[in-house]
Amino acid sequence: MNGDFVFTTKSRIILSTFNDETLLAADFLSHLVANPTGFKTKVAEGKKPESGSVFMMLDTAIKDKEGYVLTITPKKIIIKAKSAPGLFYAVQTIRQLMPVDVEKPFVVEGFRLAVPACEIKDAPRFAYRGMHLDVCRHFFPPGDVKRYIDMIALHKMNTFHWHLTDDQGWRIEIKKYPRLTEVGAFRKETLVGHDGKQPFVYDGKPYGGFYTQDEIRDIVAYAKSKFVTIIPEIEMPGHALAALAAYPALSCTGGPFDVYTRWGVVDDVYCAGKEETFNFLEDVLTEVIGLFPGKYIHIGGDECPKTRWEKCPLCQKRIKAEGLKDEQELQSYFIRRIEKFLNSKGRKIIGWDEILEGGLAPEAAVMSWRGTDGGIAAAQQKHDVIMTPGEYVYLDHYQCEPADQPLAIGGYLPLERVYSYNPMPSELKSEEQKYILGIQGNVWTEYIGTRDYLDYMTYPRMIAIAETGWTQDRLKDFDDFLARFEASGKRYDVMGINYFKGEYRDTRAVR
Ligand code: ACM
Ligand code: ZN
Repeated sequence: MNGDFVFTTKSRIILSTFNDETLLAADFLSHLVANPTGFKTKVAEGKKPESGSVFMMLDTAIKDKEGYVLTITPKKIIIKAKSAPGLFYAVQTIRQLMPVDVEKPFVVEGFRLAVPACEIKDAPRFAYRGMHLDVCRHFFPPGDVKRYIDMIALHKMNTFHWHLTDDQGWRIEIKKYPRLTEVGAFRKETLVGHDGKQPFVYDGKPYGGFYTQDEIRDIVAYAKSKFVTIIPEIEMPGHALAALAAYPALSCTGGPFDVYTRWGVVDDVYCAGKEETFNFLEDVLTEVIGLFPGKYIHIGGDECPKTRWEKCPLCQKRIKAEGLKDEQELQSYFIRRIEKFLNSKGRKIIGWDEILEGGLAPEAAVMSWRGTDGGIAAAQQKHDVIMTPGEYVYLDHYQCEPADQPLAIGGYLPLERVYSYNPMPSELKSEEQKYILGIQGNVWTEYIGTRDYLDYMTYPRMIAIAETGWTQDRLKDFDDFLARFEASGKRYDVMGINYFKGEYRDTRAVR
């Protein structure tokens, strides 16, 4: 079909199923139109499409939970979806069909808001499509977090994994333990340059920040309005030095400790022998559950050295008392105990693939980050898995030859390589494949201290991950993706996104 649908002052958005969720999708479209045109498209309930208007309906005939059918003619727009997220994704598609000036946050004189006639039927390949952000190594204020959630939503991803605690900073207010943020949210100074280079030089500047519970509630509501679920991560038993600086009695040695000022892995971790540790974590998690309504709580589990546990009489006593074989099984005991607590509150745990060591907790989901072996093993054990392997989706890695790039942690992960990733391991039998819930990109921020640099490292590689989340592997084509991205790049310019504009191809690939 030829022609355009043009939004006018008379255009309405008609919802055949009017409820809080469908209204979110309609309101989002209404705001989108209002920005550059200055007029508001009214949202109303109605059973029939109208000329000049957008009609949104839920349709049980659509199979996929997040799928949609979008029909645009010069007369009207019709969106059918199984559920509200599908309506919202159709609206994001309409947005992508709109002129890029729609992204301007002010009225554009004489703006003609037209979208080309077309029919689009789409559904995501994977139910879980996520992005992670580490706000511990560097802190990003609420506005930056919301902007990150905006980009997740624009690219039809549905999960934000918020890495809230680590050695270098505790970033979430916990009412029962005020020192977590009074002490744990701030470090004395920060390493300058790469952690692999000695002697270490520090900047001498105090650094820190945290989110109040009010700010967190506001961000959770904001994410919900964009159909993004937040998974909060509270790290344990390792990556806990900021908490131990605040409450040293929770360690094996008793401290004292400072919030860490370098990067890497720290030997001091929560003591697994003390009941206080579990009481503390259960109290913290109780407040976390109150703030985050999603099913999953991420409990970390990665990179926990066993050095202190090997020497700690209380940890050794626990190993004996519980009949555990070694410190690996003690870690497993730790995670299982936390899982039991969270399950009793109606939540599920997810952890990094180290939680396989010493035996998986019965209901745990696994994030496979050290390659794909952990994900494969977990799926074979009938556990849900998110694929997030370092060599394909760690966006803190260099995205082109490092020589002329700003400092990064290392690695080499060009856009083409990110795009090439297929999250479904060929090793899995067909009945095991259902445990691979999806894909996630991770942004660790040891070397990412500003919003501009965060943009630069994240985009467009995140967009490649989003497309992998939606598109069947056989339909993926990097040349086509690149051509589409280069055409839509102007949209990100208008949005003020400082995306990387360099070599997108894998110049090290053997072709
Ligand atoms: C991780 O990158 N340490 C999960
Ligand atoms: Zn101990």
